[in-house]
Amino acid sequence: MKLFGTMKAENGILAIGGVKVTELAAKYGTPLYIMDQALIEENITKYKNNFKSTKFDTSIVYASKAFLSKAICQLVGKYDIDIDAVSGGELYSIKASGLPMKKVHMHGNNKTNEELEMCLDYEIGSIIIDNEEEIGRLSKICKEKDKKVKVMMRINIGIDAHTHEYIKTSKHSSKFGESIFDERITEIVEKIVKDENMEFLGFHCHIGSQIFDTKAFHEGIESMVKETKKISEALGIYIPEINLGGGFGVYYTEKDTAIDIEQFMRSMIEHLEKSIEAEKLEIKKVTIEPGRSIVANAGSTLYTVGGTKTTYGGVKYIFIDGGMTDNIRPALYQAEYESIVANKVDAPAEEIVTVAGKCCESGDLIIKDGKLAKAETGDLVLVATTGAYGHSMSNNYNKAPKPAVVFVKDGKSTLSIKRESFEDLIRNDMLIDL
Ligand code: LLP
Repeated sequence: MKLFGTMKAENGILAIGGVKVTELAAKYGTPLYIMDQALIEENITKYKNNFKSTKFDTSIVYASKAFLSKAICQLVGKYDIDIDAVSGGELYSIKASGLPMKKVHMHGNNKTNEELEMCLDYEIGSIIIDNEEEIGRLSKICKEKDKKVKVMMRINIGIDAHTHEYIKTSKHSSKFGESIFDERITEIVEKIVKDENMEFLGFHCHIGSQIFDTKAFHEGIESMVKETKKISEALGIYIPEINLGGGFGVYYTEKDTAIDIEQFMRSMIEHLEKSIEAEKLEIKKVTIEPGRSIVANAGSTLYTVGGTKTTYGGVKYIFIDGGMTDNIRPALYQAEYESIVANKVDAPAEEIVTVAGKCCESGDLIIKDGKLAKAETGDLVLVATTGAYGHSMSNNYNKAPKPAVVFVKDGKSTLSIKRESFEDLIRNDMLIDL
């Protein structure tokens, strides 16, 4: 298994943030999400230091759907970046962390009226309008509340990036945004521009997630700059901002060549500067929205091995005390991960095994045919790169309580999200009259 951030072997035991996983398991139990705080901070710093230009302002918006907790909001605050939300629940959680709501930008292809009202009541930074229908609803709510709001318009630029079908967002048939190939696009934008309760900042796009094909992002830049120019000329208006979304691919297994954040951010900036100049545009601010690439490699999930089993068919299973309830990605996207027997890191990884969860579901496999050291009951298996879309997509199937999240740094661990209790699982559950 590739070691990330502060991961280190200490006398045969894996340590993260200077804390041995055996200590973490004893203190917090398993399954356990472990977040390497220093690596999150390093990733944010890489974005901040490299996505910057002398020609325009830049902004980093952390995509909170990747992993949202009060602690991550604190880090967003500490590094003075912004954060996005796509639901009332995310808005509420961010507010509860104490982060200034001006830092929040609201997405969503089907924002409810209640969510739009929340955006106005919380006075968030901006709303990214998804479609024409939303313009009308938002306008009405703004009028009722007598409030003005900053908005961007999500456009679909039709780039077919190479990633899993479910996480592509910019194909012509995507549910997100209004297509730039739609002949009514200028008319739709005009509705926003003419609305006195809205301040139009510019266009937003997001071409998909876990993308390695850097050409797709470069095509995105070209397309966004050209579209900004085209619409600003058609409507005779100044459009100050461009938001390019997130989606930068990370390493899960040897099959992945991660995007080098520092290098790629510099090349995006260079390309942006050139295109903006070539189109003779005045752009005030360019934004990106990385989620996965900030937290994925910084997070790991620690499990205890229950039993092992070799089937009649010859598959050797390692059974762990979590599974698709804390990591749905293998079942949903055939996502692959690397893992290690974390209390035996010096033992050679010589067994081909399948790491299976405890749900009543044959697809509840976290690793299929992976190479691990011989693991026995009571050993600790650590699965790497679960920091993004692990906890945030966790669920309670088979009434599994969601695991705790612990942050580690400089030899210290801090509980960040408590493990759910059985009582938590039935908190909203009521008997009925029979
Ligand atoms: N901005 C927008 C508008 C997005 O929709 C997303 C992700 C991002 C930014 C952040 O993308 P990232 O940098 O994290 O790739 N559940 C899937 C990923 C879904 C991504 C949805 N949108 C997974 O587990 O792979």
